[in-house]
Amino acid sequence: MSLVTMSYLLKKAQKGHYAVGAFNFPDLSSIQGIAQAAAAKKSPVIIMPAVLTMNEMGDEMCYSTIETISHEYPDIDIAIHLDHCSDFERIKRCIDYGYTSVMIDASAYPFEENIERTCRVVEYASRYGVTVEAELGHIGGTEDDISVDERDALFTKVEDAVEFVKQTNVGALAIAVGTAHGFYKSTPKLDFDRIAAIRAAIDVPLVLHGGSGVPDEDFKKAIALGITKINVGTELKVHGNFDVQKAAYATADHGDVRKIQALVRAKTQEIVEHKIDVFGSAGKMVEA
Ligand code: 13P
Repeated sequence: MSLVTMSYLLKKAQKGHYAVGAFNFPDLSSIQGIAQAAAAKKSPVIIMPAVLTMNEMGDEMCYSTIETISHEYPDIDIAIHLDHCSDFERIKRCIDYGYTSVMIDASAYPFEENIERTCRVVEYASRYGVTVEAELGHIGGTEDDISVDERDALFTKVEDAVEFVKQTNVGALAIAVGTAHGFYKSTPKLDFDRIAAIRAAIDVPLVLHGGSGVPDEDFKKAIALGITKINVGTELKVHGNFDVQKAAYATADHGDVRKIQALVRAKTQEIVEHKIDVFGSAGKMVEA
């Protein structure tokens, strides 16, 4: 049995001063690649369907596929986490299917409403021991064309984080500190002082979204200052699939799908293993 709650993984990581990687996947082969990487590195891992993937594969199918794959890795702790969801009924259904962790993203709403919507999910999830992640501030996408001042205004404020955690009792908090979802047009500038200030003010594990394209040294610094979970998506979607498919179609058999899947698994494993090394979670499954 290797499924665990996200809180369990993150509390251990907080004590050990490393971060646990949370990976989105576009297909089954990618889930296998993520699990293989975690097993090869003896690292805990968070596997997280994004809503757009769930729309393709099905909410319950995503859960049961990961759960089935987890049987192959009884020694690896795996959390199955629903990424960014704003729909309470859908979150509830995912908890009922067995997801060990969920993210309620009500960050687009005013502060008080974000609290209300988050509390509703925490109340339901806590009955089943399921961890809840929420977002405060606005992380956004790299495609958002906004000025530096506008961007800074969307960053998570320390005093808001204190109040939010006090009122919601969330298990993890995604903070806006300079990263964004998707590929960056230029190197992202992380607000390290803000990470340190939020960490000093609250104990809840902090989450960095938008991991694709963040330099390794920035990850290490962010972890040293208090980040405990790091989300990576786009890099696996594009490098994990698109590039290898192009390579496969150039081969003699023009990309037998099974061969493409093998390439996707291998490429995904390679990317995830590297992240695990950078995040410092390698070998943590063999330590006491
Ligand atoms: P990237 O796609 O930019 O890696 O971000 C993933 C993420 O934060 C998912 O919540």
